[in-house]
Amino acid sequence: MSDRPWWQTGVIYQIYPRSFADSDGDGTGDLRGVISRLDYLNDGTPRSLGVDAIWLSPFFPSPGFDFGYDISDYCAVDPLFGTLADFDLLVTEAHRRGIRIILDLVLNHTSHLHPWFVQSRSSMANPKRDWYLWQDPKGKSGAPNNWQSVFGGRAWQWDPSTRQYYYHKFLTQQPDLNWRNGRVRRAMMNVFRFWLDRGADGFRLDVVDGYFKDALLRDNPPAPGIRGYERQKHIFDADQPELIDAYREIRALLDTYGARMAVGEVMGNAKQAARFCGPGLLPLAFNFEFTRQSWSPAAFQNAVLRYERLLPEGGLPCYVLSNHDNSRHASRYGGQAPEARAKVAAAMLLTLRGTPFLYQGEEIGMRDGRIRRLEIQDPLGKKYWPPNAGRDPCRTPIPWTAGPGAGFTSGNPWLPLNPDYREINVQTEREDPDSVLEFYRKLIWLRKKSPALQSGGYRPLLSHPDRALVYLREAGKQTMLVGLNFFEQPIQLTLEESLSPGRWKKILSSCNSQSDLHGGAGKTVLNLQPNEAAIWTTDYTEKSGLHGK
Ligand code: GLC
Repeated sequence: MSDRPWWQTGVIYQIYPRSFADSDGDGTGDLRGVISRLDYLNDGTPRSLGVDAIWLSPFFPSPGFDFGYDISDYCAVDPLFGTLADFDLLVTEAHRRGIRIILDLVLNHTSHLHPWFVQSRSSMANPKRDWYLWQDPKGKSGAPNNWQSVFGGRAWQWDPSTRQYYYHKFLTQQPDLNWRNGRVRRAMMNVFRFWLDRGADGFRLDVVDGYFKDALLRDNPPAPGIRGYERQKHIFDADQPELIDAYREIRALLDTYGARMAVGEVMGNAKQAARFCGPGLLPLAFNFEFTRQSWSPAAFQNAVLRYERLLPEGGLPCYVLSNHDNSRHASRYGGQAPEARAKVAAAMLLTLRGTPFLYQGEEIGMRDGRIRRLEIQDPLGKKYWPPNAGRDPCRTPIPWTAGPGAGFTSGNPWLPLNPDYREINVQTEREDPDSVLEFYRKLIWLRKKSPALQSGGYRPLLSHPDRALVYLREAGKQTMLVGLNFFEQPIQLTLEESLSPGRWKKILSSCNSQSDLHGGAGKTVLNLQPNEAAIWTTDYTEKSGLHGK
């Protein structure tokens, strides 16, 4: 329906394999579990969710200090998740259903148990020594500079056997690679090739703005933050000019394989994300602003408008509401009406310009789980509990049914099931036409049929940004009008006269309501019910395919 590449028009669904579906009863999700649920994700008919691609968080061999984000072999599958043959089967089965596969490459650092680091640390003369960032002690503290670890404390670890420090942006078990070393870079390009040749359609690139650090290792200047890492401006340990050249190389390699993509996890702000994506650079880069702001239509609107201004020509936004590192948005935004808000948020994410990424479980309005002290798995939770339980609450298993093990496992789940899994689960919601899941499903299929929603222009209609958002998406003859009421009171909005209300037909609403668009006396008036998300179109014809469900 569109001549744009799939990653510009599709909806991408993040799977955290550990918590998605367990096929062998060991309590941990695995690749065969993912295969068993592909029909739920997209069986080619509107009975299924309809996502176009899945991004799998790392399933490579790893000692698991950071749950797979510490890789000890880039070209294999951890036995916990299955085998390479399972991966090949997953690719075949997913492709058969039109689902693309995106892998999560953690190329900023390896595990300390990766053979490269084991060799590197073995002696100063080892040929792999320069694959990591080793430095002599300096000054009183000994640390080569003031850089901090994202996970707390200094980012330099003393290694007594060779009497030098190594740099780790995250855990001490995650030493950073030296991307200035041409051999490292070539090794990484081979990792891309290995998975591209096996059928991967794209990559999510972990900490993509961290690959290079200042060549002179200068101290970061202070910033007015509260905790260690936030108390510095990250101008020397991230976001270096050399990145652009590395992204060009990655993009050129991807382009030799056809319609393959990459999306960068940029830890910095929206301005940085916008700088790294676009033609010739990374195809996409996440903008995380939505994960950091409150339930305020004006805040969302401002973030969107600012980002549209920042993006280069041909750059596409890539907003995220939830992922495996942040509190789930149904919990963050919940208020008195978590389900209704989950629907409003979904309607926004799936109708804004750009490529939407969903995080497993958000389509059923899943909330954060409750983790007791002794159940904590995440190293961040172990370090900062209380008050911070870390990232386990957003990583609890997907509840498929109200039955034993929530249909996730026949064993003991690696993290506890959510206490509300008997009500909030896939099966129960599939049977309820008003559920969050049903709303996501309808939105995704509507988007698939609509050129305006997939790739049209975005035009905000500013009317009441402290209560609601209203905007248009336009492509050719098709215009879609999206109305989102963020709060519990009904709202009446007066819109531009030129919208001629007679043309509009409502095609989707999150409530069974009488909300409507009508005109008269030179005005166009839009009524939205409490917490309503609704979409109107000018293109309600048999030909457009928007006619009927
Ligand atoms: C990214 C991942 C996070 C991980 C970190 C270190 O931010 O999303 O889960 O802990 O990188 O690899």
